[in-house]
Amino acid sequence: MTSSPQKPTPTKEDILTALSRVTDKDLGKDVVSAGIIQGVVLREGHAGFSIEVDPAKGAEKEPLRKACEEAVRAIPGILSVTAVLTAHSDKPSAPQQSAHAGHSHGRQGNPQGEQQTGRLEIPGVKAIIAVASGKGGVGKSTVAVNLALALSHLGRKVGLLDADIYGPSIPRMMGLKGKPESNGKKIQPKENYGIKTMSIGYMVEEDTPMIWRGPMVQSALMQMMSDVNWGELDVLVIDMPPGTGDAQLTIAQRIPLTGSVIVSTPQEIALIDARKGVAMFEKTHVPVFGIVENMAYFVSPDSGERSYIFGQGGARKMAETLGCDFLGEVPLHMTIRETSDGGAPITATAPDSEEAKPFIEIARKVAGHIDEALGGGGRKAPRISVEG
Ligand SMILES: Nc1ncnc2c1ncn2[C@@H]1O[C@H](COP(=O)(O)OP(=O)(O)O)[C@@H](O)[C@H]1O
Ligand SMILES: [Mg+2]
Repeated sequence: MTSSPQKPTPTKEDILTALSRVTDKDLGKDVVSAGIIQGVVLREGHAGFSIEVDPAKGAEKEPLRKACEEAVRAIPGILSVTAVLTAHSDKPSAPQQSAHAGHSHGRQGNPQGEQQTGRLEIPGVKAIIAVASGKGGVGKSTVAVNLALALSHLGRKVGLLDADIYGPSIPRMMGLKGKPESNGKKIQPKENYGIKTMSIGYMVEEDTPMIWRGPMVQSALMQMMSDVNWGELDVLVIDMPPGTGDAQLTIAQRIPLTGSVIVSTPQEIALIDARKGVAMFEKTHVPVFGIVENMAYFVSPDSGERSYIFGQGGARKMAETLGCDFLGEVPLHMTIRETSDGGAPITATAPDSEEAKPFIEIARKVAGHIDEALGGGGRKAPRISVEG
């Protein structure tokens, strides 16, 4: 074959050919004929696929994952490769994936921290809260970032996980970039403003369009949870993918969430989406700590005057109707946008400012909910009814 003219455009066939040179030692054949390569996607030179592995092997297969990535990366014209391990399980009750790189032995024993249900626990992390929204663009990441910073301002040890793999924005908002370091077993979270963070955005360039398939999403998320050296944390804040579909439901089921925070804008349509978010968490028995109304009103930069462009009190009313807490309203403010998008969020740089105040207030309420949830030790406080 003659070499292609200027820019080689690789095909899926090229990817499979390259992968057919990678051998899985356990199976004694190459990964393609073993049938463990799934969901190959290719977009403008960016490749992604998943590798099905024995659930009992889990993290032991990391070298195989790396070998597959390297094989594909060597193809001329390939710009980036993202390979993820997925574990399919014939027996639904078996742990889906070995979560602990450090505990790779003992296939029988239930590795510490992982329950029979395949739920992940992260040792050292006391509480995990999800920040969710029915749809994108409502300021979910802005709230997640500033809430994490506000919790830290209140003296908590905080981590921030970007589970929005379709549109990761934590790296930009936290002013972080570049690959995280790894000691071969665990990935070091990247840290700024005293907060440990992890995001798929550190691995894939921000503008890289990626098509994620269900199992890949789960696997990527589980790896970001369990293969990261989070250390001791009072709370891990998760910036959830927008929406209430299968991917979100799976996260809510597999990650032991202490509670959730729903972000909504005041428009009626967004409120409807937020209702779906509340319903999703209720279905999975995750407590809904409450609703944050973002872009609730506009503050004039000159006079500081408030105007409620979308009408006032919608989210508060909805919270009442749904029987959950109204956590607070955040104004639509130029400073909030500029500081978040510029990698220096207001709650980090000026926690005592007027703009940071709503986030600090919201964090106080969320912290109260966390303490209440943990204080009960999983036990519900008895309902005391006073008869009149
Ligand atoms: N309260 C706010 N005031 C001003 N701009 C905001 C506010 N909340 C979010 N934004 C801006 O709106 C855009 C979308 O917010 P983002 O947090 O990325 O939303 P999502 O994560 O829901 O997609 C960003 O440019 C962000 O800076
Ligand atoms: Mg976002």
